[in-house]
Amino acid sequence: MSFSPPQDDGTVSITFQGKTATLPVLSGASGNSVVDIRSLTKELGLFTFDPGLGSTAACESKITFIDGEKGILLYRGYPIEQLAAKSSFAEVAYLLLYGELPSKEEHEDFKERLLNHSLLHEQIRNFFNGYRRDAHPMAMLCGTVGGLSAFYPEGIDISNEESRDLSAVRLIAKMPTLAAWAYKYSRGEPFVYPRADYSYSENFINMLFARADRPYKVNPILSNALDRILILHADHEQNASTSTVRLTGSTGSHPFACVAAGIAALWGPAHGGANEAVLQMLGKIGSKENIPDFIAKVKDKNSNVRLMGFGHRVYKNFDPRAKIMQQTCYEVLEELGIKHDPLLELAIELEKYALNDDYFVQRKLYPNVDFYSGIIFKAMGIPKSMFTAFFAVARTVGWVSQWKEAFNDPLRRIYRPRQLYTGHQRRDLNK
Ligand code: CMC
Repeated sequence: MSFSPPQDDGTVSITFQGKTATLPVLSGASGNSVVDIRSLTKELGLFTFDPGLGSTAACESKITFIDGEKGILLYRGYPIEQLAAKSSFAEVAYLLLYGELPSKEEHEDFKERLLNHSLLHEQIRNFFNGYRRDAHPMAMLCGTVGGLSAFYPEGIDISNEESRDLSAVRLIAKMPTLAAWAYKYSRGEPFVYPRADYSYSENFINMLFARADRPYKVNPILSNALDRILILHADHEQNASTSTVRLTGSTGSHPFACVAAGIAALWGPAHGGANEAVLQMLGKIGSKENIPDFIAKVKDKNSNVRLMGFGHRVYKNFDPRAKIMQQTCYEVLEELGIKHDPLLELAIELEKYALNDDYFVQRKLYPNVDFYSGIIFKAMGIPKSMFTAFFAVARTVGWVSQWKEAFNDPLRRIYRPRQLYTGHQRRDLNK
């Protein structure tokens, strides 16, 4: 194991019904120490109870570290602010996958690999034809990514490091093409293919917006902004979709199927679907005068209304990604010559209002990465329903990096949580 030795107070003892279990406390490189409860059930016959797994470390990982109190996010030790300012998405993807930033040659080679794998099998076009035109892009992504596993049956050989690496690169490379085609399909426009002279983000933008009937040139400010947005979303330790990918991977499933499961988990409004939900919410609020009424609804426990784009399971001070996102938002709007964006103005007012309200202060609820991303995407001309698909493209890097890491973990086992059963005792059929 890669843990350092337990600290001075290196054990926790639990006494139950006259028996005592002594459990080691393990320290990682940073962050909270963990109580190793693996012997608890054997020694005391107890399970632990942690709905939402907020106090449970389900695996070891060397990829991403978050300090939620201080608002720190590190990829392989590098602060997100530095990576967003100085690196390309391809470099960050390489870093997350392989552990170190690439040399110049490695970077070129990796970009070439991504490009070579960005095409889709022509038969995938038929998959899209099976969807209604108004299908949500996340539905199309889920289905087509899962379906791609049938095109790469050799990917099921997960015992082979090279095969795992190839699947990981294929997935990162093909996701923008799939997402862009989902968008094109919804508009009834011809699919656009990746181009060898474009970067990852340029290709993504080109495949979304280029049309057969007129020339299209990718605006570098927009592709740089997209690159940064993809970097900010690339990984976030053991979040719901990543845990889903790890869980699915723990059964030995095909990597494309694991990522399809991750896409399903990301879709929900509590997770990646929040960026779409923020714009819907701003649309519903409509204008600044309605903010107090809306906030009153959010605070009313019976209303089931949440302030979307606010709050986070781990960040309890600020989300460092939200700060960079807000800055990117200003840059994009300026580049696009948008002097006054009513949605941005409403969002800023709403943020101010919430940050001065006791309800949010006491619960340590701050804007998260999704609060501003929707406004940027909208300004770029990207429809609401595509927002979460962008998140999925970015997070694929994290999913496959974590999926690969899990295979080299000597502690790897199938995920199989226990439960606190509260249903009927045994009873017999009365007939
Ligand atoms: N609006 C109003 N109240 C909230 C919100 C919110 N957005 N988030 C949390 N609370 C309240 C919650 O009602 C609870 O109050 P009380 O203690 O009185 O019962 C308290 O804060 C703790 O909330 P929780 O639900 O236990 O927190 P959680 O860690 O389970 O949930 C969350 C985290 C992100 C799901 C939640 O904050 C939320 O639903 N936010 C809105 C959706 C959103 O923006 N999601 C994107 C997350 S960032 C992108 C990503 O990683 O996917």
